[in-house]
Amino acid sequence: MIGILLCSLFIVLALGSNDPVQIQCPSFNSTITPDLALPSNTYYYPYPFDQNSTISSYTPNQFCKFIVEIPKLQYAYFTMMADINDDSMLTITDCNGKSEIVMTSEFQPYVFVGGQFSISLLVGTNGNNTRFAFQVQWSDFPTPNPAFYTVTKTGPALFFDEMLFENSVTITAETRATIVAFPSTYPDFTPLLRITLVFDGPDLNSPYLGTLFQALRSNKPMVSKSRQMTIFTFQENYLVGSNFVVQDYYNVQNLSESRGITCWSQSSCPVTLNAANGPVSAMTLNADDGDEYIKRLDLSPGSILKIYCGAKKEDDDSNLIVTYNAEQSKTNIPQKFYGDIMTYYLANGTALVELAEDSNYTRWNDASSGREGFMSSRKFGELEFYQDVYEEIGGFYLNSTFQFEVNVTHLDVSNVAVLTLTFGNETGSPTIHQISNSTNFQLGQVIEAVGRNMTVSYFTNGTATNGFFLNFKISSLETKFANFKHPKVILVISVLSMMLF
Ligand SMILES: *[C@@H]1O[C@H](CO)[C@@H](O)[C@H](O)[C@H]1NC(C)=O
Ligand SMILES: *[C@@H]1O[C@H](CO)[C@@H](O)[C@H](O)[C@H]1NC(C)=O
Ligand SMILES: *[C@@H]1O[C@H](CO)[C@@H](O)[C@H](O)[C@H]1NC(C)=O
Ligand SMILES: *[C@@H]1O[C@H](CO)[C@@H](O)[C@H](O)[C@H]1NC(C)=O
Ligand SMILES: *[C@@H]1O[C@H](CO)[C@@H](O)[C@H](O)[C@H]1NC(C)=O
Ligand SMILES: *[C@@H]1O[C@H](CO)[C@@H](O)[C@H](O)[C@H]1NC(C)=O
Ligand SMILES: *[C@@H]1O[C@H](CO)[C@@H](O)[C@H](O)[C@H]1NC(C)=O
Ligand SMILES: *[C@@H]1O[C@H](CO)[C@@H](O)[C@H](O)[C@H]1NC(C)=O
Ligand SMILES: *[C@@H]1O[C@H](CO)[C@@H](O)[C@H](O)[C@H]1NC(C)=O
Ligand SMILES: *[C@@H]1O[C@H](CO)[C@@H](O)[C@H](O)[C@H]1NC(C)=O
Ligand SMILES: *[C@@H]1O[C@H](CO)[C@@H](O)[C@H](O)[C@H]1NC(C)=O
Ligand SMILES: *[C@@H]1O[C@H](CO)[C@@H](O)[C@H](O)[C@H]1NC(C)=O
Repeated sequence: MIGILLCSLFIVLALGSNDPVQIQCPSFNSTITPDLALPSNTYYYPYPFDQNSTISSYTPNQFCKFIVEIPKLQYAYFTMMADINDDSMLTITDCNGKSEIVMTSEFQPYVFVGGQFSISLLVGTNGNNTRFAFQVQWSDFPTPNPAFYTVTKTGPALFFDEMLFENSVTITAETRATIVAFPSTYPDFTPLLRITLVFDGPDLNSPYLGTLFQALRSNKPMVSKSRQMTIFTFQENYLVGSNFVVQDYYNVQNLSESRGITCWSQSSCPVTLNAANGPVSAMTLNADDGDEYIKRLDLSPGSILKIYCGAKKEDDDSNLIVTYNAEQSKTNIPQKFYGDIMTYYLANGTALVELAEDSNYTRWNDASSGREGFMSSRKFGELEFYQDVYEEIGGFYLNSTFQFEVNVTHLDVSNVAVLTLTFGNETGSPTIHQISNSTNFQLGQVIEAVGRNMTVSYFTNGTATNGFFLNFKISSLETKFANFKHPKVILVISVLSMMLF
């Protein structure tokens, strides 16, 4: 303690004199403890500094280590200003020994609990290019505003978004609880997931498991040792966007990897799945409109990609929406999906799934010869009000003509629900198949038509139904258009190859 005070004093003097003096760390490992004499219960290194200070550089070739102690029932709020040179290394380590290497930071918040955390700075020969200053503030645990839930082996997974109405969520599981975290729905906010903490038990006094940021980075579900898990967010002053899924461990026990993915609009999201060490899964979050597209899919020979609406359960494929093998990945993509949460599951081999949010970019609406796919209502298979969809798939030229084949495999026309298939041409009136009852239609009966485009509309007029599901297949009548590619394709392929390498 004396060492630090001397050191701080030295720096105050140094900064005061306005010289470009370099910081010489204390020669032994420093322990920083809360001290009531500190203004606002805040410790600064070097002292004083704030957002407007010129941050000091460091004397080359030294090792600085600070251990920050955290009293019971308190947490440490930590921020830093860091710009670490290539030949130096800054490591922040929590009480579980989990480390994060920091290259730059501009006061992004960290929260630590569990007795202590440590800060190590190894300064290389260019120490004068390494700039680092930090502050720690100790506070009592905030008052939880808790909510309680349970998960079971066979019950649904729970999805939490934002945590705006409660700051603490306690889950009780049948076996153990597991959590999959997603990047923030606001692109730059993901580092704020460091201030949402996960505990192994019923409250904040339970053992600390890690942060949502660690859960996201680890690519593995975070699992409790006990049957309970508590997620607590210190987000009072921030909008963090803590999105996560909680399941019973039974349903993820065989996964060697599991990730949360948020694909922002206007971007393309390549997702690589590698089942070399056992089955893997990736969960996607579509918080905005629930639409998701696969633009491209590459599967290794023999591997099968299974896609679920919602979370995947062990021994239960009731929410499996589609499966692809390598051959189907060539004909059945692009494909559109509806689901706030989707799960991509691969038991063996490898898969590259390129996800996107924009229908134009994926060319979902473009007819091409040999293309197959499916369409479904928004909440297919659930008795829901929001089932309506309107989709069109058509040729690029007004004079293009295709053969469409449609196989409606599930359809609920209860209440006033109507499924309408319309096939249009440049000339002549469109062919319309309107299905509102079973007198003129049987499931599995294939509807065929020739035209430039196909539109599918499902309208329930706000009544609850189980929706519909249909498969479609497009073939060309005029083979001279079969190999047509318009310029967008070439551009897109080159963009993709840049992303892959
Ligand atoms: C300081 O900590 C480092 C890393 O934990 C350790 O290797 C070193 O021996 C410690 N030095 C002293 C003087 O305690
Ligand atoms: C930093 O400077 C700005 C503008 O000069 C001022 O408004 C702000 O209060 C200063 N911040 C601190 C922490 O002194
Ligand atoms: C840092 O140190 C090197 C070598 O001593 C020196 O050449 C360089 O000018 C220094 N840079 C700054 C910003 O002081
Ligand atoms: C998952 O793991 C459990 C326990 O190891 C095992 O009994 C079960 O057969 C596995 N399931 C699959 C689908 O591999
Ligand atoms: C992939 O897994 C399935 C089912 O577990 C198995 O039938 C198939 O042989 C496996 N394929 C390869 C290439 O390992
Ligand atoms: C897709 O392209 C059409 C025509 O170019 C345009 O009107 C529409 O706004 C685009 N949609 C999106 C989501 O960009
Ligand atoms: C269809 O339209 C395109 C562009 O207008 C034209 O190049 C092509 O020759 C037309 N094909 C037929 C069969 O009329
Ligand atoms: C389908 O194609 C016809 C003929 O080009 C066109 O009039 C109609 O608007 C198209 N339908 C949709 C939904 O775009
Ligand atoms: C069934 O639907 C057809 C049109 O699709 C309609 O003409 C007929 O009246 C309907 N039958 C009943 C019983 O509603
Ligand atoms: C339509 O789909 C059903 C269910 O997948 C299938 O059993 C049936 O064979 C299909 N019909 C045709 C003509 O492909
Ligand atoms: C569209 O045009 C093709 C070729 O002229 C014709 O065979 C088909 O019946 C037409 N379809 C509609 C819906 O008018
Ligand atoms: C939809 O519901 C509204 C209100 O119940 C009703 O006035 C309207 O006629 C219905 N429309 C159709 C097409 O069923």
